[in-house]
Amino acid sequence: MQWSACREGRISMREHAELAALLRAAYAHLPQLYGGVRTWSSARPEARVLGWDGEGAAAHAGVLRRFLQVGGTDQLAAAVGLVAVRPGLQRQGVGLALLDRVRAFLGELAVPFGILMCAEHHVPFYERGGWRRLSPRRALYSPDDTTEPRPFVDEITTTTLVLPVTQEEWPDGEIRWNGATV
Ligand SMILES: CC(C)(COP(=O)(O)OP(=O)(O)OC[C@H]1O[C@@H](n2cnc3c(N)ncnc32)[C@H](O)[C@@H]1OP(=O)(O)O)[C@@H](O)C(=O)NCCC(=O)NCCS
Repeated sequence: MQWSACREGRISMREHAELAALLRAAYAHLPQLYGGVRTWSSARPEARVLGWDGEGAAAHAGVLRRFLQVGGTDQLAAAVGLVAVRPGLQRQGVGLALLDRVRAFLGELAVPFGILMCAEHHVPFYERGGWRRLSPRRALYSPDDTTEPRPFVDEITTTTLVLPVTQEEWPDGEIRWNGATV
């Protein structure tokens, strides 16, 4: 596997087409999200961590730095999402290798934390990659930043995870994303 971290402006249209095909295959239950060359669903990442093999795009994660308000205070974090491994390669450790590369990239960015929201059944995967599940707390986030404004989701989240990078303890308090997750 050839790994790289790539800023958004350096990804060619041919690569977007390949990455869209990977996302379509990995998120087969959400086929409407990654049609054509579309390679993001709710917020556009500023960079990607990518794994390529002889067949093309094999692993992908999106990264977007942003300030979230946590307990009323601005907190810089790198939102991580669009995490995907080609279906034929899943459960062989590629996902954990991807999370290692994501951690290294966030280290290069020197952000205090990574943050993501995921489905309950993916929590063990991220925990094995060093991410920590937050105790239940209120989170407010936009469902989608790609179209017109819509009411923010306001919920008690039980599946928000953070990755300590340059800081250790994620602060207490409700999380206001002021935008969409990646
Ligand atoms: C989630 C995903 C990236 C994991 O990639 P992967 O290459 O299969 O992960 P790995 O083989 O490195 O798995 C490492 C460990 O994570 C856990 N894990 C991975 N996928 C899991 C799943 N679907 N259910 C439960 N545990 C899982 C297991 O503990 C696994 O170790 P094991 O295989 O020895 O039991 C991949 O399944 C995927 O692309 N899914 C579709 C897209 C998606 O839903 N992404 C997550 C969005 S939040």
